Amino acid sequence: MTASMIDPFGRAITYLRVSVTDRCDFRCVYCMAEDMHFLPKKDLLSLEELDRLCSVFIEKGVRRLRLTGGEPLVRKNIMHLVHQLSRHLENGSLDELTLTTNGSQLERFAPELADCGVRRVNVSLDTLDAEKFRAITRWGILDKVMRGIDAAQAAGLKIKINTVALRGFNEDEIPEMMLWAHNRGMDMTVIETMPMGEVDVDRTDQYLPLSELRARLERRFTLTDIPYKTGGPARYVEVAETGGRLGFITPLTHNFCESCNRVRVTCTGTLYMCLGQEDAADLRTPLRTSEGNELLSQAIDEAISRKPKGHDFVIDRRTRRPAVSRHMSVTGG
Ligand code: GTP
Ligand code: 5AD
Ligand code: SF4
Repeated sequence: MTASMIDPFGRAITYLRVSVTDRCDFRCVYCMAEDMHFLPKKDLLSLEELDRLCSVFIEKGVRRLRLTGGEPLVRKNIMHLVHQLSRHLENGSLDELTLTTNGSQLERFAPELADCGVRRVNVSLDTLDAEKFRAITRWGILDKVMRGIDAAQAAGLKIKINTVALRGFNEDEIPEMMLWAHNRGMDMTVIETMPMGEVDVDRTDQYLPLSELRARLERRFTLTDIPYKTGGPARYVEVAETGGRLGFITPLTHNFCESCNRVRVTCTGTLYMCLGQEDAADLRTPLRTSEGNELLSQAIDEAISRKPKGHDFVIDRRTRRPAVSRHMSVTGG
C-alpha cells in the first residue's frame, strides 16, 4: 500500500510540482527581472536525480505530478525525464503527469508528450495581441505559441490557458480571450498577480482583484459556479453563452490554502512547502549522500511536518515590496 504524507493541518500531499529548470526563453515582466542570473549547470539535479526524487514522492503518496520551470521544455533532454516518469502512469502509481508551459516549444514536443501519456497541458498566455505579447514577454513571438497550441490540440492534448489578470495591460482583453479559448474547446483560468521577487514593473499598480473582473464579466456573460476540480486551486464557473469553463485563481482575494494538496521542488532539489513562504528544505544532500532513499524520505517527512497553514501574500501599497523574495520562476508557480 502507498504511504501518505499528511501535514500538520491534516492536508494530504498528493500533488508535486517539479521545476526542472530556472531558465526560460521568455522574461514575463511580472515574473522575472530582465537581468535574471540563472543557476550554473553544476547546481542542477541531473535528470536521473529528478526521476529518483519524483519516484520517492510517488511512493510517499503523490498522485499528480506537474513539471514546471522556468520553462520546462527548454531543459536539455527533458523528454528523457518525461519518458522515465511515464512508467508511473503505466503501472498505475500516478494519476496524472502534466506540464505548465509557455507554449513556445510545444510545436516540437506535443506529439511525444502525448505518446508519453500526458493528457493535458497548461499554457501561459496573457494576450492575443502580438505587440503586447512581445512587450509582456520582453521578446516572445506570439505566432510560435499559437503554432504550439495548434500542435498540442492536433496531438490530442487538452489545454488550459492561464492568464494573469493585469490592470492596465489585459483587463479589457480578457472577455475576448475567453471567447477565443472556449471557441477552441480550451478551459481558461485567470490569476491574480502574486507579489514574488523584485521585478521591473510595479505589481501594486497592476494588481487586479478577480472579484472586480468577475463582476465585469457578469455584465456580459452568465457565470454559474460549478464543482469542477482539476487538483489545482482554481474555482470554476461555466459560461452559459459559450458552454466553456473559466477558473479563478485568487490567492489574494479568496485564498484556497485550507485545501492545499501540494509542495514544490526546484531544479536544485530544494523543497518549498508553500509557494508564499520562504521556508524550504534541502533534498539534494540526502539525495546525493546516500544510495538508498531512507534519508531522503526522512527529510521529506520532516519538511512536510513544517508545512505552513498558508501564504502571507499581500499587495502592500505602502512598501510595494514583494511578500516573498524568490521569483515565481524558481518554482514555476
Ligand atoms: P491544474 O489545476 O492541475 O490545472 O493546475 P494549477 O492551476 O494548479 O497549475 P498551473 O501551473 O496552471 O498554475 C496556475 C496558477 O496558479 C499559477 O499562477 C500558479 O502560481 C498558481 N498556483 C498553483 N498552485 C498554487 C498554490 O498552491 N498556491 C498559490 N498561491 N498559487 C498557486
Ligand atoms: N503572479 C501570478 N502568476 C504568475 N505567473 C508567473 N508569475 C506570476 C505572478 N507573479 C504565472 C505564469 C504561469 C504560471 C505558472 O504562473 O503566467 O501561468
Ligand atoms: Fe498551499 Fe501555500 Fe499555495 Fe496556500 S499558498 S495553496 S498553502 S502552497
